[in-house]
Amino acid sequence: MTRKVILDVDTGTDDAIAIMLAAYAPALDLMACTTAWGNHDVGTTTTNTLRILDLIGRGNIPVYKGLGKPFAPIPFLFEGHVDSEREIIHPHDFPAPPTQLKAADQPAVEWLVETLRATTEQVTLVPVAPLTNIAAALTLDPKITEAVDEIVIMGGAHALGNVTASAEANIWHDPVAADVVFQAGFERLVLVPLDATHKANMSLEHTSALRSLISPAARVAADIVEQRIHGYNETQPQVQPDSAPVHDALCIAYLMDPAVIDIAPYHVAIETVSPVGFGKTIVDVAARTRKKPNAFVALDADAERFNKLLYEAISEGR
Ligand code: RIB
Ligand code: CA
Repeated sequence: MTRKVILDVDTGTDDAIAIMLAAYAPALDLMACTTAWGNHDVGTTTTNTLRILDLIGRGNIPVYKGLGKPFAPIPFLFEGHVDSEREIIHPHDFPAPPTQLKAADQPAVEWLVETLRATTEQVTLVPVAPLTNIAAALTLDPKITEAVDEIVIMGGAHALGNVTASAEANIWHDPVAADVVFQAGFERLVLVPLDATHKANMSLEHTSALRSLISPAARVAADIVEQRIHGYNETQPQVQPDSAPVHDALCIAYLMDPAVIDIAPYHVAIETVSPVGFGKTIVDVAARTRKKPNAFVALDADAERFNKLLYEAISEGR
């Protein structure tokens, strides 16, 4: 039996690879993509999502356009963050061909609530964008958690940061939304932070293997990852030279093969107030708060397993 999945994206280069994987994985039934602001404005993230689905021949998967600004406004002006570097990693000139596909008429949050209320089978939610849409849906109907067997979130960081010294982009963009999601009482919440995604990097060797598959999807996937490698070389050089994380794809890889990440239960709190730590995920690895774990957090990943799985999925799906 296939597992029903809703992917919430802000496409985005790594989102694009996550969409390919989710659409190709035979064990997953990608019900829809919902889009949020984040890497770009929500109009652009929606078009990029449609472009990828068209490229891979999955234009039948509906796309619902979501919210375009944070659930709660950021309470102060920011200095010293590096959000402006985003264009190097997620260029506006998106490397997939234009499309005639259009988003569905219904807004994403409305569709999420309606679908999760109506479903007779539990659904897996995979938000790999700011948690704006999910928090808004939970605010409309907190009981939608009951329809979700697992929520797998790309976001946060324990020992790293990519927007500030301690905050990761998806959480930093809308920390109040993240707080709403972490306190919503999901049956099982899995957090895939930077600590794990930076352990599953892709290198130029991996992109040349993809290129040798000779299909439009494989070529675009290789272009996208090479763009990321170039961007990371410029902005956040990695321990392994000429390599980059492909964050969002690791969440889908986890659904295909849970052994691709190492998870353990921890209590996670979201910093929503302090200007210095704004948007940080505080993972209580030493159980100092004595609070009950509310998440399974991935602090490590298996790069070889991830890359093999990705290569096989794109090779079989093309
Ligand atoms: O910090 C990484 C996350 O931020 C990824 O989801 C990426 O697509 C960006 O949105
Ligand atoms: Ca993303």
